[in-house]
This record gives sequence, structure tokens and C-alpha cells, in this order.
Amino acid sequence: MVTIRPATRDDVERVIALRTQAFNINEHGRDSMRKDPRVEEVRVAEVDGSVAGTARAISFAHFFGGRAVEAVGISGVAVAAEARGRGVGTTMMRELLKELRPRVPISSLYPATVPIYRSAGYGFGGVRTFWKTRLDALPHTGPLSASPFTDDDIDEVNDAYERFASGTNGLVRRSADWWQRRVFADWENRIVYRYLVREGGDVTGWIVYMLSKADGESWRLNVDVRDLVWTTQAAGRTLLSLAALHRSTGQSMTWPGPPTDPLADLIAEDPLENGGTFRWMLRLLDVPAAIEARGYPQLVEASVTIAVRDPLFPENEGPWRIEVGGGQAKVFPAEQADATGDVQAWASIWASLHRARDVVRIGGLEATPLALETLELIFGGPMPWIADFF
Ligand SMILES: CC(C)(COP(=O)(O)OP(=O)(O)OC[C@H]1O[C@@H](n2cnc3c(N)ncnc32)[C@H](O)[C@@H]1OP(=O)(O)O)[C@@H](O)C(=O)NCCC(=O)NCCS
Repeated sequence: MVTIRPATRDDVERVIALRTQAFNINEHGRDSMRKDPRVEEVRVAEVDGSVAGTARAISFAHFFGGRAVEAVGISGVAVAAEARGRGVGTTMMRELLKELRPRVPISSLYPATVPIYRSAGYGFGGVRTFWKTRLDALPHTGPLSASPFTDDDIDEVNDAYERFASGTNGLVRRSADWWQRRVFADWENRIVYRYLVREGGDVTGWIVYMLSKADGESWRLNVDVRDLVWTTQAAGRTLLSLAALHRSTGQSMTWPGPPTDPLADLIAEDPLENGGTFRWMLRLLDVPAAIEARGYPQLVEASVTIAVRDPLFPENEGPWRIEVGGGQAKVFPAEQADATGDVQAWASIWASLHRARDVVRIGGLEATPLALETLELIFGGPMPWIADFF
């Protein structure tokens, strides 16, 4: 018998042991979890009275269509090796989603394995793409000077970050705590370097990076960028030239960016390699609430009727009429649907990851030609990406 409950302080060592067996966490990582276990975010699964599984629910928001949509990110999902393959993970995910649905419209996660999450209703929501270039291909000089990015700058940088994030899809809203724990801290305990640039007194870009060993090299370095945001050409060139100052001992730079990163256009040649992609998953917990929570292109005026197949939450099924205008959507109960799809498929459409016609091709959606066209108009937009890991 599997039961799920909130973790207590007494569970901390067991939770750390489960995560360590699942993710091979090093001593520094274990120490950080002991010092700051965030017990309120942790759930445990008991099998016959002893803790055999754990998961963590982290509150934040994703920017979609210019608005921050409240979300819970799931991480640290781990089941003791001897208890795997017996339904503990599945039960834990379903119970957790039932708990979260009244609180937030969406949930997201990075899947180490997909089937368990797909069966809980997650579809793909976006990408975390890393780009890679040789340091000697970067501009050697930039038009601005970079200065140290101190904790006193965080509020101002965060304002610039939110303006930037509002213009794309997927990026995560960062609290002061998120900046410290997920942008400035390193699980491997490397030194984190950070610089910013200003134009006319305003922050227009910043870089946060660590140094690691370059692939296949005995001692040459890779500039391992955690965060690189630039809003003007001068800021982009200056931050690239700062990374290039590592070229005497360094070989390459990797950075997280959108799937087609215009930063590449500021490099003279086209030396980019894809440095790895991790697709993240998204669960529309409350479908009407999720549709009303994100933003839409200002000039689009359209309506479409939809239905959702969602065995876990039949309340999501509809049919619903979506009316979009002035950058917002309203959702009403409807009589029939012109587009019917799986909740996983609607996640990819909602997030602007897949076009509706591609979701038809993968078998997740049936729709009239007009409904397809309308869905592509409403949910068209930049491909969703995330720079942060959680
Ligand atoms: C992934 C994990 C949490 C699944 O928990 P579980 O209790 O074994 O899962 P369930 O028994 O409910 O099975 C759910 C699905 O998980 C998959 N699964 C089960 N055992 C698995 C294993 N040992 N390895 C990988 N996937 C497994 C199967 O696809 C299964 O679906 P199916 O039975 O329809 O084929 C567990 O295997 C684990 O802790 N793995 C290591 C850590 C990890 O990968 N966590 C996910 C981080 S995002």
C-alpha cells in the first residue's frame, strides 16, 4: 500500500539517501541539502510504513505570451532501487498532481525518463538548448566595459530579466532566492563569476559563468555559462568579448540560449555547435485556467472550440470555447468541439512548442482545417525555452 505525505525534518536523511542513489549526488550537494532541506517542498511515499520514494514541488512561474503563469516545477523524483517498477512513482505523481491542481494551472519538469510523466498527463513544453563555440571565434573587443555584478545589482538586473523574459516563452520568473540558489550557486562548488554592462545607466546585459575542463583537453578551459542575457548589440558584443579574454587558457564556451539564438549572428563566422538539448515537459493541470493565464498576440481576434482527453482530471475535458482578443483569452463551456486532443498534446500547443498540424501528425489531435488554422494563429509565438535547471 502506497501513501503520500508531506516530508518532515525527520525524513531529511532518508530523502538525501534516495536522491543520492537516484542522481549520484556528491558530498557538496548532500551538504547543501542538509543545510537547506526545503522540507515544505518535499513529499515522501511510504510503502508498508517506510519511506520508499520522494519528490519535490517548487513554486515559481513561467513567462508565456508576455504574462507570468504560476507553476509548480517537479524535481528530485526518486524511488529506492529495490522498490522501482511497482507503481510507487506513478502513484506519487498522480497524488501530487491532485494536490497541486487547485493551486496552480500548470506544472513543469525535466524528465530523466518520459513514460511515467506522459502517463500522468505531461506533454513536451519546450527546450533547454546549449550552444557551443570556440573562444577564438568570438569578437576580441566590445564597445562597452563590463563591471562586476554584485548582490546590490540583483533587483535592477531582475527588472531587466523580466522585461526580456516577457518577450519570449518559457523562461522562469526568478525570486531573490532563485537567483542565489539556481543562478549563482554551483552544485559542483566551482567559483561563479558574474559581470554586467550598462548603457546610459541601465543594465542591458549580464553573464554568469564557471570554468570547467574543455572536452578532450588536459588543461584547457571551457567557459561554462549559466546565464547570458543581452538586450542590445553593444551588450552582446561586450559580453562575448569578455568571454574571449579567457582564450589564452580557454578553448570553448557553452551557453544556454533559445533554440535559434540570434547571439550567433554577433559572431563573425558560424562556428556554432549544438552543445546539447534537454526537452522539458508541461502539464496543463487546469485547462481553462491555463488558457486564461497566458498572454496572446495583441492583434489576434479569434475563437475556437476544443475538447480535451484527460483520464486523470475529467474536469478538464470540456468542450470549451476559447475567445481571444486584446492579448487575453476567455474560456466558456461549449456544446461541441472543432478540435479534440490529448491533454499531453494540448500542453505542446498551449506552450507554442508544436504547431497544431504537427500535433495532428503525431496522433495527438483531430481538428477541422479552420480550427487548425485558428489554433496556429492563437498559439503562434517564439519557441519556448528555459535557461535554468530545477
Ligand atoms: C523513474 C522512477 C522515479 C520511476 O519510479 P517507479 O516507482 O519505478 O515507477 P513505476 O513503477 O510507477 O513505473 C512508471 C514508469 O516508469 C518507468 N520505469 C519503471 N522502472 C524504471 C526504471 N528502473 N528505470 C527507468 N524507468 C522505469 C516505466 O516506463 C514505467 O511505466 P510502465 O510500467 O508503464 O512501463 C524510478 O525508476 C527512479 O527513481 N529512477 C531514478 C531517478 C529518476 O530517474 N528520476 C526521475 C527524475 S525526472
